[in-house]
Amino acid sequence: MTQREPILGGGAGTDPHHDSTGFTIWLTGLSGSGKSTVTAILERELRARGRRVEVLDGDVVRTHLTKGLGFSQEDRDENIRRVGWVCHLLSRNDVIAIAAVISPYRAVRDELRERIGRFVEVYMDARVEVLAERDVKGLYRRAMAGEIENFSGVSDPYEPPLNPEVVCHSDGRETPEESAGKVIRRLEELGYLG
Ligand code: ADX
Repeated sequence: MTQREPILGGGAGTDPHHDSTGFTIWLTGLSGSGKSTVTAILERELRARGRRVEVLDGDVVRTHLTKGLGFSQEDRDENIRRVGWVCHLLSRNDVIAIAAVISPYRAVRDELRERIGRFVEVYMDARVEVLAERDVKGLYRRAMAGEIENFSGVSDPYEPPLNPEVVCHSDGRETPEESAGKVIRRLEELGYLG
């Protein structure tokens, strides 16, 4: 870690976090698109490189940090803003934050990109037909039967990123290892891995 200016005598108004080596990897995509799987590979790889990593996974954060929120646009945006806030705090303190959340609305993702700055958006691109066929958690079948309302990709919108740093084709065209490899290469290109 680089030495910072001492608190006393430091220039007023300077950003104490400007030289953080942290950043945020934001995986967005439909349920079952491989966000958690690729996240686990990235976490392992980045830790192996000596980095500190924290993961914020939708299914997990919804049991504590964002417990009680549902799947209306308002609740999803609130979920994403809270996850983004934590990513922001971690990123400015030399930690790599990895968020794995559907985050279907482009405007909130762009808002976080603006706030966090060092923000690497990874779009897990997978056709809903393939995801429904796989249906690892059995949720697509229930959503299609009308048993789950506002289900992303079935009865609720998903707005793909327009300019993501990385696009992973996770519906069979590439393996999770290949997807994670693409992300690591992009991080190297961006100079984020030192
Ligand atoms: S987000 O839209 O707010 O980003 P998040 O990633 O936290 O969603 O949570 C998605 C997870 O919640 C899914 O993986 C799935 O297990 C579960 N889930 C339950 N209901 C829904 C729904 N209506 N739409 C999408 N996911 C749902």
